[in-house]
Amino acid sequence: MAGSPLDFDPETMRQMGYRVVDTLVAYWQSLPARPIGTRPAPAMLEALLNEPTPTTPQPFEQVLNEFLEKVLPHIIKVDHPRYFAFVPAPNDYVGVLADFLAAGMNIFVGTWMVGAGASQVERVVIRWLCDWFDLPETAGGLFVSGGSVANLVCLAAARQRYPDALTRGRVYYSDQTHSCVARAWRILGLREEQLCVLPADEQFQIPLEALRKQIQRDRADGWQPFCVVANAGTTNTGAVDPLEALADLCAEEGLWLHADGAYGAAAILTEEGKRRLRGIHRLDSLAVDPHKWLYQPMMAGCALVRDFEHLRAAFRILPPYLQDKERGATGVDFCDYGVELSRSFRALKVWMALKVRGVDAFRQAMEWNLHLARVAEQALRQLPHWQIVSPATMGIVAFRYAPPTLSEGQADALNRALVDKMIEDGFGMVSSTILRGRVTLRMCTLNPRATEEDVRETVRRLHQFATA
Ligand SMILES: Cc1ncc(COP(=O)(O)O)c(C=O)c1O
Repeated sequence: MAGSPLDFDPETMRQMGYRVVDTLVAYWQSLPARPIGTRPAPAMLEALLNEPTPTTPQPFEQVLNEFLEKVLPHIIKVDHPRYFAFVPAPNDYVGVLADFLAAGMNIFVGTWMVGAGASQVERVVIRWLCDWFDLPETAGGLFVSGGSVANLVCLAAARQRYPDALTRGRVYYSDQTHSCVARAWRILGLREEQLCVLPADEQFQIPLEALRKQIQRDRADGWQPFCVVANAGTTNTGAVDPLEALADLCAEEGLWLHADGAYGAAAILTEEGKRRLRGIHRLDSLAVDPHKWLYQPMMAGCALVRDFEHLRAAFRILPPYLQDKERGATGVDFCDYGVELSRSFRALKVWMALKVRGVDAFRQAMEWNLHLARVAEQALRQLPHWQIVSPATMGIVAFRYAPPTLSEGQADALNRALVDKMIEDGFGMVSSTILRGRVTLRMCTLNPRATEEDVRETVRRLHQFATA
């Protein structure tokens, strides 16, 4: 391996790799005892890290140490067992190593011609997912960077099916829907007035009757309703829209039914998930993120569609410089089914993780996550003045400290301040949102390494800070 200025001798390569693995294992072992991380001021980090492009080489060890000393402490650790904020991202070590392999070999999964084996693995993993959701043989999909792009890709397929979509099309979803859906419609060229956002009901679900009436009204007004976006696990509360009833409505009305299951759809492996996600087999498309509830390293979302060809119709363009891929043995060219040509081998992590562990390990981990949300709810119910705004649902509990001595506005300010206080304390982290017009805290217990004690002590500290 001599000659290139970018090469090392094999023994040095090994030592560098061993050093990184040792660093990672030590990090994982030390994580529960570490603080969650800090939220430093930009000026401090600029002073610490800004520098001109390096010209003289530095030893790998030195640069690694610089990362560990100057960068890592200033990152909030989303894989920390007591990170209950937003959507936690606990990591599966098999997936980490698979990403290392995929990057190390720089495997390209854009065309069958170049990446046949990897493309077939992606096909296999996508088929596993389609089977979990009981989608038909015609179904297919692909790996993308995450939920935002998965929703975008699915909704592009929906828009493509309706010739009038851009002019007089109208789409429907509840106000609990993730902002990436509105952004996707914006990217796809829909105007604000084409997006019908319905206030969710008491259970944070889309109101069916209001939806039905709105569709009728819109038709009478000359709109062409063409798509309903359901939630299969909202970010706020884990709420799942009534998929079966929505599927009936969309079948009657001839609408595309998409669900954003980026967060929640993988819970189909569990009993609670099966019950809540009833009807998911009837969707036209579904976004699901293995980098959320299948514990894989980031950059693993999936766009699934009931008819794989709908993606091809939406995305395929054949330029002359790709014409060679059309000859000889041809298979699925994933570049024809989404927005990316250069695509890394994201499916490898899910394929390896599921094979190494077996699906039951994931099921058990998810059942534990669901249990921990119930533990959090119980712990909160035992303390005075904590309102449960949304009970444990798909691993999320939403709550608010509201003693009678405080006005609603004062309680809002206090709940918001609790998020910051918890970060400052460093033990555990929660995040806030607005539900029913009021600031509400939420815990998302998605880390399989979190313990009951982690959950209880986090709640105890919340109470301590709330009453201080
Ligand atoms: C329900 C839901 N949809 C979409 C997204 C966006 O996914 P990503 O961050 O992978 O783009 C999230 C992220 O938390 C989510 O919870």
